[in-house]
Amino acid sequence: MKTFYATTPIYYVNDLPHIGHIYTTVVTDVVTRFRRLSGEPTRFLTGTDEHGQNIEKAAAAQGIPPLALADRVVERYHQLYRTFEIRNDDFIRTTEARHRRGVEALIARIAAAGDFYTAKHEGWYCSSCEAFYTEKELDPEKRCPVHATATAWESEENVFFRLSKYAGPLLEHYERHPEFVRPESRLAEVASFVRGGLNDLSVSRSKVRWGIPFPGHPGHVVYVWLDALANYITALGFGSPEDRFYREFWDHPEAERVHFIGKDILRFHAVYWPAFLLSAGLPLPTTVWAHGWWLRDAKKVSKSVGNVVRPDALVAEFGPDAFRYFLMREMAFGQDASFSDEAFLTRYNADLANDLGNTVSRVAALCRQSFGGTPREVCTDNEIVGAFGDAEAEWRAAMTACQFARALEAVWRLLTAVNGYVVAKEPWKIRKQEGADSARLHRVLSASAEGVRLAAVMLSPFVPFTSRRIFETFGMMAADPTASDLAWGRLPVSAPMPELPALFPRADAAAYFQKETAMTESAASPAPAAPEDDRIAIEDFQRVRLRTAKVLVAERVPKSNKLMRLEVDLGGERRQIVAGIAAQYAPEQLVGRNVVVVANLKPAKLMGVESNGMVLAASVGEAGAPVLLDVPADVPPGSKVK
Ligand code: MSP
Repeated sequence: MKTFYATTPIYYVNDLPHIGHIYTTVVTDVVTRFRRLSGEPTRFLTGTDEHGQNIEKAAAAQGIPPLALADRVVERYHQLYRTFEIRNDDFIRTTEARHRRGVEALIARIAAAGDFYTAKHEGWYCSSCEAFYTEKELDPEKRCPVHATATAWESEENVFFRLSKYAGPLLEHYERHPEFVRPESRLAEVASFVRGGLNDLSVSRSKVRWGIPFPGHPGHVVYVWLDALANYITALGFGSPEDRFYREFWDHPEAERVHFIGKDILRFHAVYWPAFLLSAGLPLPTTVWAHGWWLRDAKKVSKSVGNVVRPDALVAEFGPDAFRYFLMREMAFGQDASFSDEAFLTRYNADLANDLGNTVSRVAALCRQSFGGTPREVCTDNEIVGAFGDAEAEWRAAMTACQFARALEAVWRLLTAVNGYVVAKEPWKIRKQEGADSARLHRVLSASAEGVRLAAVMLSPFVPFTSRRIFETFGMMAADPTASDLAWGRLPVSAPMPELPALFPRADAAAYFQKETAMTESAASPAPAAPEDDRIAIEDFQRVRLRTAKVLVAERVPKSNKLMRLEVDLGGERRQIVAGIAAQYAPEQLVGRNVVVVANLKPAKLMGVESNGMVLAASVGEAGAPVLLDVPADVPPGSKVK
């Protein structure tokens, strides 16, 4: 049976996770979600690389044992994976016994092939790479080509691996399997490196204590890259009697094995790793996919450069899906991309709040207002069926080729088609002319809702929370979709539709950047709710005069991030009210909208502007983000609310 296995690099534990680590993990999550959605048996592995000199040093600097440092960082990874809903099937740590057993089994096979020998090892050593370089690879100052930091001349007696012997077989493999390295341009790079000749590789260290003891060489530990690369098979049970996953996902003629990595570690994956496997007589990975770097200020984001991007603030404000979407949409897979908060906010507002969020809420509102739920039938002959067919074919091809931005564009074309269809068919007019029972109205809205549902299915690998929310909006279970959901006509009929908050409330970029100021203005936000058991008499409630009102004018209060000045129609009376909703709503979203206001509140001045009432909003999430209460458009302004 055809199976699919995808891995991320295992990350070092001397650094906390940042955008680069999250990126490769999200990519692998998106790909494996897509394969699962297509019904393929899939396995997704990630984990941590915990041995070596750098970890030893970092732990010593903190005055704790290396394993304690590793435990801490692993916990951060677990937290982060929960936040981003990463669906990995396994998490390997190189300090686990199962890994050590597998490494020993791999070393035994390489030794049996006669590919190890002992010799004196000298060279220019970069302790960040944990690798030796030849003189010609360094600049005149003898600096590491990856880190641009000083290398040191090192000399020790080591176990060597006969890498030189594999130059020919590797070149032959690249020739016969051009899919071995992606993107294609990188294969040429790797092949040219191998053609330049390969030196044998030192694979034991006597100066390092923190590692797996090298079998048969007391006092030596296994070179950290031989140890680390083996994780891809040790996690499957290689070297243990429990090796079912290894036989299903690695050593199987129809197993597809893909390593997702950054281009910084391509040589280790496309030269050393296949050479170890060739020597051990084991199958090679199908593809090593080396993506580009996230840059900030034109430099690779990394701890050593000191320009790391950690997503915490953006995720707290806009949710994990917005961040997942940004990563997948902004980087052309394989090339470098720049990260900036501005780029994030632009994409958020244009793609998520506007295109996706508005389409969903518009179609949902039309269904709810017309039928109180989903339409009573799903029609099959309309232009959205064709638009879906085209989008799905393009999406599938792009996903298979790991062209994520192109796959998202295909889904966006479907959303644009749905929007255009709604505008052209004017269902609100049909409802007025023919009534809510009109067969035509049901057909138009079912095509639109079905288009939105299918877009949500195709988006589910990218934005799993959001797609579940869309299913819920259209009366379905909030569950991850399966292969059978990706077909026209699965929208439930006459299903009740709950009213949910907007998927992606519009972000005010200026407000985000002045968050500090916004925090200090929190006095202007609505008072906390009374405790639930603090009951009042009906007369008390009747003292509060609640009225519907239509917003006539909306403009931001100058120098405030939260406050919006509104002029509302209270049924013939024009009132000025100041509301703390500017971080969530744009003025153009408010004008013409019906709201509920407290009409008999004593006047108050907020940032120098007089407010004569209060607009009611639900307070959502821990941050208490206001979501305005909806009043149907046909309720006249000034109506009593009781
Ligand atoms: N432990 C080794 C990998 C061993 S795999 C058998 C290692 N770890 S790492 O913590 O440094 O992670 C490197 C990986 O993190 C990169 O290959 C890439 O997947 C990701 N990224 C780290 N910084 C990155 C960017 N600035 N941009 C994109 N991804 C990068 O190397």
